[in-house]
Amino acid sequence: MSNSSPAGGVSAADDPNGPVRLLVLGAGGRGGHAYAGWCLEHPDRARVVAVADPDVERRTRVGDAHAIPEQWRFDHWQAALVQPGPWDAVIVATPDREHVDPTIRALELGYYVLLEKPVAPTASDLSRLADAAKGRPGAITVSHVMRYAPFYVALQRVVRDGRIGELQGIQHLENIAYWHFAHSYVRGNWHRSDRSSPMLLAKACHDLDMLRWLVGEPCIQVSSFGERRHFRLEQAPAGSTERCIDGCAVADTCPYNAERFYMEQLADIDGPPVTAITNDTSPEGRRRALETTDYGRCVYRMDNDVVDHQTTALRFANGVTASVVVSAFTQHNTRTITVMGSHGQINGDARTGRIETISFRDTPPNVGVPANVPATSGTLQVDPAVQGDIEDVSEAFAGHGGGDAGLMADFTQRVHRWRTGEAFEAAPTSLEESLESHWVAFAAERSRERGTVERP
Ligand SMILES: NC(=O)c1ccc[n+]([C@@H]2O[C@H](COP(=O)([O-])OP(=O)(O)OC[C@H]3O[C@@H](n4cnc5c(N)ncnc54)[C@H](O)[C@@H]3O)[C@@H](O)[C@H]2O)c1
Repeated sequence: MSNSSPAGGVSAADDPNGPVRLLVLGAGGRGGHAYAGWCLEHPDRARVVAVADPDVERRTRVGDAHAIPEQWRFDHWQAALVQPGPWDAVIVATPDREHVDPTIRALELGYYVLLEKPVAPTASDLSRLADAAKGRPGAITVSHVMRYAPFYVALQRVVRDGRIGELQGIQHLENIAYWHFAHSYVRGNWHRSDRSSPMLLAKACHDLDMLRWLVGEPCIQVSSFGERRHFRLEQAPAGSTERCIDGCAVADTCPYNAERFYMEQLADIDGPPVTAITNDTSPEGRRRALETTDYGRCVYRMDNDVVDHQTTALRFANGVTASVVVSAFTQHNTRTITVMGSHGQINGDARTGRIETISFRDTPPNVGVPANVPATSGTLQVDPAVQGDIEDVSEAFAGHGGGDAGLMADFTQRVHRWRTGEAFEAAPTSLEESLESHWVAFAAERSRERGTVERP
């Protein structure tokens, strides 16, 4: 990889062995909490030395927490990237539609970039970014955190070690959880694809990337179905009101009641997701948000247009198939996966961190006993407690199942190597490696809209 310095030669750190210095663009949930938060916990490895965000409270919170001089607090990314500054790398954690331009500009200035997913909201923007990055392969690390999460690292290892024979198919379920969907995809930042991204791209480009990683071959055909079926005006219950706090007749029975969610159920939380609705997380601040922002509106009366459930079928170059179900209508916010091989099966649950590997040869066949068959029929009875090998990675959980921490550790280490002139390779989630997942998501969207089978 190129070890060239950012334009202007400002990359020479005072102490090349000291913590790497980061400019954070976007001080919200990802930039301000996940990434800047990691730096506070690992001051020996990285420091946030500059921040940009038009939201003055968020900017100030990060600026103060990291003791950033006033001169390096910017009110938007454009101001931060006018010229090089005293940082080694840039984190782009701005909204979906503000990813491509700051990243291209940071590349022009010679920086390494940690770029939030989805890397681009449209196919044309993705091409523009891919073209701009051609001269700097490996310079962009994409925040596909699943590849750094111990759960998926373990899952990939089991698939690769051959215990289930040859991989045949995968069934993957992304449970968004009813409350998370209402928060982010009905009322929140991702409720309209023209202002952010199509739902599959926004929520599941990770998952598409992870599946490609497990299979080890590119996806060559895609078909997809899905629609916005529930969160629409026609579904509004009689007596429901514009806002949940307007005397809604079904407030007690509606699972999407914003007042109950933000005021009562999340009363003890003063970080995300509450900080998405207000910087002032006091009861008064929350109530004001319910009165004035989309987060207090009825889920049936928003201007949302993204799908609330989607099923996508993938065919990979080696004949492996996968189905990906992404749904709002689940209890938990997690992912479950079944990996089917010629000689065994893996059952994974990212919420519990449990990975069960079953060898067909070593596990008694579960023929089962239909209720109406007498015990004398000779049907093989199987102890329901029989299970495969269990691996439990739950202790590594926190921030996307440990993925956020793994990503930051990896990214800052690469930047450190670059700064000290050591050789290093591109990240496992480099832009080049991540493009495929996005092309697949765009193909799925075309298929969903046109009713066709598409090639990515
Ligand atoms: N990797 C993941 O697992 C993951 C998870 C959630 C979100 N995301 C993605 O990360 C990105 C950020 O998401 P978030 O949840 O932090 O959103 P957020 O709304 O909490 O934060 C985005 C911040 O960017 C700021 N901003 C807007 N315009 C700006 C500009 N011109 N210059 C600088 N800052 C600007 C906003 O004021 C806001 O504070 C999004 O693209 C989102 O899709 C990724």
